[in-house]
Amino acid sequence: MDDETRGDLLAKLLTGDPGASPAAVREACERLLLNNDCPRPAPGSEEDDPRAGLFWILTMAWRTHRRLRDPLPTDPARAAALAYTLQTRPLRDDAHGQLFIDAPSLMRRAAAVMAFGTPALAVGDDDALTLALHQAGADDLAAIDIDERVLAYLEEASVGAIETHRIDVTRDPVPEALRGRFATVVTDPFRDLDGGLSFLTWAAACLRPDGHLIWVDHPDWSYEQPEVLETMERLGFELVAMREDVHAYPLSVALIRPDEVADALDLDRGWLRAITELTHAWSSIYVLERRPPDPMTVN
Ligand SMILES: C[S@@+](CC[C@H](N)C(=O)[O-])C[C@H]1O[C@@H](n2cnc3c(N)ncnc32)[C@H](O)[C@@H]1O
Repeated sequence: MDDETRGDLLAKLLTGDPGASPAAVREACERLLLNNDCPRPAPGSEEDDPRAGLFWILTMAWRTHRRLRDPLPTDPARAAALAYTLQTRPLRDDAHGQLFIDAPSLMRRAAAVMAFGTPALAVGDDDALTLALHQAGADDLAAIDIDERVLAYLEEASVGAIETHRIDVTRDPVPEALRGRFATVVTDPFRDLDGGLSFLTWAAACLRPDGHLIWVDHPDWSYEQPEVLETMERLGFELVAMREDVHAYPLSVALIRPDEVADALDLDRGWLRAITELTHAWSSIYVLERRPPDPMTVN
């Protein structure tokens, strides 16, 4: 299905009018959330709460519609070639919180890394970002992950060009070989405060003093994001750039289970299923750098 048809269908399901504007679709989603008593979930709220489920599906639905009407630049031929390469990667493992972005998104993530340069490190790389960078001609690439399958795949597919380390960021110290070494470190961390900070502080320790930390996240599914950012600011980092809704994670009914949400909130199963099938989850890019020392500080 092409993007235009997908956008028309989403708009029709949400407003009754296939030609509704992104603003009208957003308004309809926000009204539906209000009518079903589904406010933004509080930090730490239960993942399987159906009200949080509806909030998430409808918020990602209007964001998807907006992107379908105002797409980001892509190179379809290169994206198709990348998707072909990635067919042999290991299946996603829920136990490690893995969820893949699509190939056009992966190209955008690689472009963001290249904007800040190599050497570059991926802290967690189920998306095979380092492989996309390698195929685009970048070198001096490294990836760490808890999942040995991911690391073996990156090594094999790059014929040893990507340096890999098996690391659990919640427990393992930063090896000297990685500390303070990278111009760019990129991470798509867990969505809770402790998980998010484990990834980000580990990533930060691998940055050169002038390096850039690319943090992938979204406030509509990472409800503790303001606290994570505050903590990073206290640790001496500042947010220098942000791009909204850059990476798409295709969803499936099996993954999101809209029927359970529909039943709990007395909504039409077919309607919510159709919306879920047309919707992608989105993440945004946040770029952090070390705050320069305050020249007025007297030691
Ligand atoms: C954390 S997952 C993505 C999370 C997802 N964006 C979310 O919000 O749930 C990204 C990568 O981190 C890896 N990973 C998960 N737990 C890890 C850990 N404790 N240490 C290092 N890597 C880990 C996964 O295998 C995956 O490749």
